[in-house]
Amino acid sequence: MVQNDLKKIVGWAVLKYIQSRTIVGVGTGSTVAYFIEALASIKKNIKGVVASSDVSSLQLKKLGIPMFNLNNLDSLDIYIDSADEIDNHMYMIKGAGGALTREKILAAVAKKFICIVDVTKQVNILGSRCPLPIEVIPMARSLVARELVRFGGVPKYRHGVITDNGNNILDIYKLKIINPIDLEEKINNIPGVVSVGIFARRCADVVLVSDKKGIKVINANS
Ligand code: A5P
Repeated sequence: MVQNDLKKIVGWAVLKYIQSRTIVGVGTGSTVAYFIEALASIKKNIKGVVASSDVSSLQLKKLGIPMFNLNNLDSLDIYIDSADEIDNHMYMIKGAGGALTREKILAAVAKKFICIVDVTKQVNILGSRCPLPIEVIPMARSLVARELVRFGGVPKYRHGVITDNGNNILDIYKLKIINPIDLEEKINNIPGVVSVGIFARRCADVVLVSDKKGIKVINANS
């Protein structure tokens, strides 16, 4: 079974967690694109969605799913998104798609965050396979890169990419993230950092993992 099949399976499997008349936060990426397809099949049963990126907004609009502005809501019932890497504590690296800041906002406001991944995303130590994305204010790009070198990383500027918020992305290679909560805070404190793709302070509540045998459900504290 190829990875795209596994993404599709988990994108549809999460549908049973969506309750009637709720507002759903929607992440970004190829796994979430399958979830959006699935969501369209129950669009009459939900109130609507809040999207984490222009790309997801476009797909949601095309499928006629009602969209809300987060500023007009007191809370968000549930947030569904994928990850680039996830460890045993349900801490994640996100942001390969460049939408990490809005994803972090939706994760923070949601009552429940369900992460949908295929088995290739599971790691023992974050940073083992993927670089760590950081969204930065353009004028601070070099400053942030120098600071990340001090942390042992190898920063690479994602050329030609402007985020939905008008910023740049640095991808940090060769970081082994032993203490994600601590590193998330340290990187957040560098001037010019908009957000870092470590999702540890607000991690997932439930993880659905697809592999060739089916879906495994992991609950926080289980
Ligand atoms: C988008 O910015 C990311 O955080 C995605 O959630 C992550 O990159 C997973 O993407 P895929 O589903 O395309 O692997």
